[in-house]
Amino acid sequence: MERTWWKEAVIYQVYVRSFMDSNGDGIGDIPGVISRLDYLKELGIDVIWLNPVYKSPNDDNGYDISDYRKIMDEFGTMADWEKLLEECHGRGIRLIMDLVVNHTSDEHPWFLESRKSKDNPYRDYYIWKPAGKGPKGEPNNWESIFSGSAWEWDEATGEYYLHLFSRKQPDLNWDNPKVHREIIDMMTWWLDKGIDGFRMDAVHLLKKPAGLPDSTNPPTHKEGYVGDEVLYAHNEGIHNIFREMNRSALSRYDVMTVAEMNRATPAMAGDYVSPRREELDMIFHFEICGLPRYCEEKKRISELNRIQQRWYDASWKSGWNSQYFNNHDQPRQVSAWGDDGKYRVQSAKLLATYLHTMPGSPYVYQGEEIGMTNFPFSSMKEINDVSLRNDWAKCSAAGESEEDFLSRQAKWTRENARTPMQWDDSPQAGFTTGTPWLKVNPNYREINVKSARSDPNSIFHYYRRLIALRKAHPVMIYGDYRLHSRKKGPVVVFTRTLEKEQLLVVLNFSSEKQVSLLPLGKGRGWKSILGNYADFSLRGRRLLRPWETYIMSRAVK
Ligand code: NOJ
Repeated sequence: MERTWWKEAVIYQVYVRSFMDSNGDGIGDIPGVISRLDYLKELGIDVIWLNPVYKSPNDDNGYDISDYRKIMDEFGTMADWEKLLEECHGRGIRLIMDLVVNHTSDEHPWFLESRKSKDNPYRDYYIWKPAGKGPKGEPNNWESIFSGSAWEWDEATGEYYLHLFSRKQPDLNWDNPKVHREIIDMMTWWLDKGIDGFRMDAVHLLKKPAGLPDSTNPPTHKEGYVGDEVLYAHNEGIHNIFREMNRSALSRYDVMTVAEMNRATPAMAGDYVSPRREELDMIFHFEICGLPRYCEEKKRISELNRIQQRWYDASWKSGWNSQYFNNHDQPRQVSAWGDDGKYRVQSAKLLATYLHTMPGSPYVYQGEEIGMTNFPFSSMKEINDVSLRNDWAKCSAAGESEEDFLSRQAKWTRENARTPMQWDDSPQAGFTTGTPWLKVNPNYREINVKSARSDPNSIFHYYRRLIALRKAHPVMIYGDYRLHSRKKGPVVVFTRTLEKEQLLVVLNFSSEKQVSLLPLGKGRGWKSILGNYADFSLRGRRLLRPWETYIMSRAVK
């Protein structure tokens, strides 16, 4: 397997709006990120993925871009951004940018032109259709991923435009070669500025199915709309787009790509990430992040093992994988996967261990390194997210009470990940001197960076050690993976093996004690290199305490 810097990197995601506010307006910004780079350096990460910082009316917090070459006013200026890049590189940290090209904002000049007339030169930059047989006369029955029809009627020219997300995010038309050229020019513009790659937003949706057929699934909406992402995604022609991006832009620079791809299956993986195809370096698949919500608890860990095995088999020998539990679209991992009460510290460390020892690149989302938890939402007034607000509008119209809606959704909403970073125990957790755009989690007096840094047994220092171990033990990166634990139950035991070293990773994903069978052979030569209980002893290694995890290493011939 070819060794590359991006396979060896630990990537840290910064959701700028919630990271650090430098000017007291309650919104995180780029100077705020710069002021915390020493903290990230101390943590040891190699790459920062910056969520979108481009000019945007913020219907979807920057995922609705109105100018790809400008910085959002609230976040600072282009000079601030250039300083950020320089300060990152000066510390040996790389910077990757979010590439959002399935859609633009409806305030992007291309769209403003496009909606002016049917013969405007920009008309075909977007997907316009006359009325058809959809539930209310739309061109088809598609439901937007953010609820309601995926089509918006535009009075001026008497046609509908397609938006798979909010109505302020019209989809670009990737059947139009001019769109390809515009986007590749824009990518090249950023690459020339010296960035180190892209995280590509929702790119599984770039190509729509030919003829935009109705979904034949049962309606997901009482008005007859059908949300059918399988139909919208991974359509013919998509590989040509990545090959073209690669050939015309990416391959000319030493950069990495990671593509967000819901509905991707292991069978598709090779086609996207096999190096010989020259498309992408790795993808974010979605098969794991939904397990806490959609899979019965007693089957969750066997499902996790099964999914990991399939992705490993599909992408290890030719390709690469990503590992994540958290990002800005998921609830906090310690609340969804771990125990955010009694065993918060142990379970956060266990999840971290898994993330850094499984094959693939670990992605750490801001705040997970101090074990930040979900927010106790009790009113829709506390929610800013467009997707949850749209869903609420739909459900309240159907008669659901706010209390019932929140009891279903509060634990799972992505808003949980977006509350401000908890830096210290001063007002607003040190995030801002003003009023934060989203409430700070009330547990900030206990859970914050300042106290985590001063406690040698904190989750923060555990992450630091894991990241350092990854650098000292190439087996954690390049070692072959083998699962040893039985199919059922919450105990996971696996080995990673590379040339002369073998690691054994043991994890108890539960709040109960467990007994584990370990593939230790005669048991000689093993030494423990990290664990989340201070008094771990080799003698007691078969009896696992709640959320106990440890890593052992030995030399192999
Ligand atoms: C995926 C992004 O991660 C999410 O935050 C966003 O709302 C949608 N794509 C639309 O861009």
